[in-house]
Amino acid sequence: MSWIVRLQKSSLGSKYIMAITGAGLFVFLIGHIAGNLLLYFGQEAMNAYALSLHHLPYGLLWVARGGLLVFALAHVFIAYRLSFHNRAARPQRYQYEATLQASFASRTMPYTGTLVLLFILFHLAQFTFHLVAYNGPYTDSLGRDDVYTMVVNAFQNPVYSVLYIISMLVIGFHLSHGLSSMWQSLGLNHQKYNLLFRKLSPLAGWVLCLAAASIPLAVLVGVIK
Ligand code: HEM
Repeated sequence: MSWIVRLQKSSLGSKYIMAITGAGLFVFLIGHIAGNLLLYFGQEAMNAYALSLHHLPYGLLWVARGGLLVFALAHVFIAYRLSFHNRAARPQRYQYEATLQASFASRTMPYTGTLVLLFILFHLAQFTFHLVAYNGPYTDSLGRDDVYTMVVNAFQNPVYSVLYIISMLVIGFHLSHGLSSMWQSLGLNHQKYNLLFRKLSPLAGWVLCLAAASIPLAVLVGVIK
């Protein structure tokens, strides 16, 4: 374990950990949004999928949740530490030039990251722990957790659907920069593959976030009901 402690203390190691945990969280998000797109296929498809996840064999659900938590904590901890160190080290007179050169998404990473964190805390409190904005319990005619009705009821309230749509756009900005800089952190920024690394990966992030944003929008306009 001591190699992890040493790795996260070096600035190169920190960037590696940011890239690897960010990639892991992105993979989770692909699976999560793909699963939630089943909302378009109706109550039976969504609830059967949720039930199969809740009954994964060998405690796999808890292994995945544990992994997700470790990745998320490491990503957030190192992100704050890096941005604190960068601020402390940056000479004042270069700030204007540096700001001009960096893209909007890269300059706002600490802010969009913080908003993503706040979104996740709210999202878990709502759909996983049922502590806020929850009108349940929801059970379908087969006695299963009625995840479909829970989500549709929540998004029929414009306050929550608009909040989710804005959050998905913020996540889009965060991912668009995170995914393109990830390759550089991993030392994979070869000239030959720059189109893939720099252009296509942010696009993949945007496609995913817009697909996610389409869900509350579809409920709001009555396509999913
Ligand atoms: C419109 C988009 C989204 C919808 C409809 C949605 C829906 C849900 C639902 C229904 C659950 C509870 C699942 C269950 O207990 O059966 C859940 C859990 C969760 N969601 Fe989302 N989600 C969305 C976007 C996101 C995003 C963008 C993130 C991360 C940035 C995220 C992260 C999570 C996490 C970490 C959990 C807890 C997983 C677990 O341990 O069970 N979700 N989501």
